[in-house]
Amino acid sequence: MKVLVVGGGAREHALGWKLLQDDPTLEVISAPGNPGLAAIGRCEKVAATDINGLAALARRESVAFTVVGPEGPLEAGIVDHFRANGLAVFGPSKAAAQIETSKRFAKELMLAAHVPTARARTFTAVAAANAEVERLGAPVVIKASGLAAGKGVIVATSTAEARDAIASMLEGNVFGEAGHEVLVEEFMSGEEISVFALTDGTHVLPMIAAQDHKRIGEGDTGPNTGGMGAYAPVSIATAGIAAQTVDRVFLPTLAALRAAGSPFTGLLYAGLMLTRDGQKVVEFNCRFGDPETEAILPMMASGLLEPMRAIANGDSIAGAPPIQWRAGAAVTTVVAAAGYPGAVDSGDAIALPPDERDVIVFHAGTKRNSDGQLVTAGGRVLAITALGASLGSAQKLSAAHASRVQFEGRQFRADIGWRDLARQHPGA
Ligand code: AMP
Ligand code: GLY
Repeated sequence: MKVLVVGGGAREHALGWKLLQDDPTLEVISAPGNPGLAAIGRCEKVAATDINGLAALARRESVAFTVVGPEGPLEAGIVDHFRANGLAVFGPSKAAAQIETSKRFAKELMLAAHVPTARARTFTAVAAANAEVERLGAPVVIKASGLAAGKGVIVATSTAEARDAIASMLEGNVFGEAGHEVLVEEFMSGEEISVFALTDGTHVLPMIAAQDHKRIGEGDTGPNTGGMGAYAPVSIATAGIAAQTVDRVFLPTLAALRAAGSPFTGLLYAGLMLTRDGQKVVEFNCRFGDPETEAILPMMASGLLEPMRAIANGDSIAGAPPIQWRAGAAVTTVVAAAGYPGAVDSGDAIALPPDERDVIVFHAGTKRNSDGQLVTAGGRVLAITALGASLGSAQKLSAAHASRVQFEGRQFRADIGWRDLARQHPGA
């Protein structure tokens, strides 16, 4: 059996890796893939945004189904195109993907379905948005409604900063079309967790919670990045919180999407904030998160292939057994290039340490140069997942392996999971 994985980052490498664990006879084809995916399957030079090219590839290879990693092709309607051509595909339609691609859509849907979230209003005119900022006071959150490569959210600590953000989006065009509609949202405080659920549009198979580490520096300091690491499970995401997330977040959101005529199939990602008033949705994503996927999938003791194939084929997962999890913890440490999250050099030679038990090296921004040498090709270069009997041992193993990766100016955080470790060992 063949599957096609669309994308070329560490998330896609982790997806291909897990599917191959489930069925070692599987042929994992990826487009465009990366050297990590090339080592476990075959990469085809088709861009993740080339929907016609991907459909032609899926048909030519007679793949059982296609899994879409990034949000870009989902927003562009890859799932609609595949389905119209009779090709099985895991991911939401363009309309359902609006749960991520339009913050206004997501907010209106949540409010109508009584899903707990921060109050917000949408504006296209500066004066009205500024008036809302004055009404709410600081801190206040300004968000571009559309996809802005993870940069469209400004948590403003003063009303002046909020007004600047509004002007830059509505008048300054900083995010183009994505910022021509802004949300002015009430500020929430609390710890953030990421919870994923596989869904056929009605039923869910929830996964264990993970926590991303957005800041470049240890102790969560410095500028935001695409994610410097993640761990799973998260101790504050108790069984009670998990059950509430299904009942109060996933099921009503899916029901609202069905009622709107755009059922959501694929992987629904809820970014939750654990506030004093309970868990609230910060955002939804319409796809697997990165780097959370690299920590969560290696913790799965049961298969991903079967529920994914059922969902891609449009079948129900009503009778599917709950996902089984390994004991212990996984920690993913991202190894980034010098200068990240700013401009980075690429083409620097990478030397990987020898393979190690309980360590999986997922490739993110790597490529092979004309001599076949593995070199850097992006800000986040590798995602190194270690499994351990405890969070502490997984963190040590992951960081130690990361420290043995060699390339010019490489940087990583050795403290992934620090909040949970502090919680588990207060005073340590
Ligand atoms: P988003 O792209 O919507 O996930 O927002 C990016 C980040 O901004 C989140 O992970 C939060 O840390 C922060 N954020 C978003 N909305 C709020 C809010 N209402 N209150 C406080 N922080 C927020
Ligand atoms: N980890 C955040 C995201 O995937 O959007």
